[in-house]
Amino acid sequence: MVGIKPLSKIWLDGRFLDWEKAQIHILTHGLHYGYAIFEGIRSHGTAQGPAIFRLKEHLTRFENSAKIYRMALPYSHAQLTEVAKELVRVNGVTDSYLRPLAFSGYGEMGLDPTRSPISVAMALWEWGAYLGEQSAQQGVRVTVSNWTRIDSRALPPQAKCAANYANSALAKMQASAAGYDEAILLNASGMVAEGPGENVFRVKDGVLSTPPASSGILRGITRDSVIRFARDEGIPFQRTDFTREELFTADEVFFSGTAVGLTPIREVDGRPIGSGNYPVTHRLQKVYDDAIHGRDPRYRAWLTPAG
Ligand SMILES: Cc1ncc(COP(=O)(O)O)c(C=O)c1O
Repeated sequence: MVGIKPLSKIWLDGRFLDWEKAQIHILTHGLHYGYAIFEGIRSHGTAQGPAIFRLKEHLTRFENSAKIYRMALPYSHAQLTEVAKELVRVNGVTDSYLRPLAFSGYGEMGLDPTRSPISVAMALWEWGAYLGEQSAQQGVRVTVSNWTRIDSRALPPQAKCAANYANSALAKMQASAAGYDEAILLNASGMVAEGPGENVFRVKDGVLSTPPASSGILRGITRDSVIRFARDEGIPFQRTDFTREELFTADEVFFSGTAVGLTPIREVDGRPIGSGNYPVTHRLQKVYDDAIHGRDPRYRAWLTPAG
C-alpha cells in the first residue's frame, strides 16, 4: 500500500496552499465524469541539488492532453514550469513525484465539461519504486489482462486523461487479485499495448523493441528516453508490434515509466522470461539512473534544476 505522507504545500488555482487546505467541492464536475488530465513527473538529487527530469516534455504532453480534450489551460508552460520548481523548493523534498492536474471544476453538472471552470493544481509527494523496492533488481511477475486496452476510437490513449485510468484500474485489480505484480494489456487487434501505467519493451537476439504509438499506447517519456539511450549506446532498436507469445519467448522484457523507472519483467503468466539475467535491461537502467541524477553529460539538458 502506498501511503502519502503529508508535506507542506500544494498549488491550486494560482496559490500555494497548506497541504490539508487543498480541497475541492464534492460537486466538482471532473470527479463525476473523469474530465481531468494529469502528468506524473519526478525530481531527483543531483550534485547541483534537486532537478526535475524532462519537465518540458511532461508539460508539453499535459498541454497536448488539454488540447485533445478542448480544455483551455489558464496557465502557460512558463508559469507551470515555475510552479513545479517552486513546489520542489517549498516542500524541501529532493526525490519527489510531481502531479500536475487540470479538471472541470465546480459549476455545472451536465455532461458538457466546457460549462464548468477549469481548475489546475500541482502536488508532489515522496514515492518510492512503484512496483516495490526489489523490483528494479529482481523483476516483477505479470499477467496478460483479459481487459482490452482503450483505443483512440473511444478514449484517446495519447491523452493522459483520468478516465483512461478506469481501464488501467480494471487490469491492475485483476492482476493483483490473481497474485501478480502488474498487468500487460493487449490492444483491440490482440497485440501488446502497454501496462496500466507503463510502456513495454522486449529484447530478442540483441534487438530492443517496443510497440509503436499506433498500437494505442501513451507515448511514454521514459520510453522516449530509453529509445534515445539505445541509439546512443548502439543497441539495435525497432518500433514494432508484438504478440503475447513473443513476450513468452523474449530474452528480456521490461516496463518503462516515470513511476516504475525501468523494471525487468521476470515472468509472464507463469513463463519465466529468458535466462533470468537481464543484461540489456540492467545496462539501460544504469544509463537512466545516471541521466536522472545528472551524472551523464549527454542528458543534462533534460534536467530542470529546482534548488
Ligand atoms: C498508460 C501509461 N503508459 C505509459 C506510461 C509511462 O509514461 P512516462 O514514461 O511518461 O511516465 C504511463 C505513465 O505516465 C501511463 O500512465
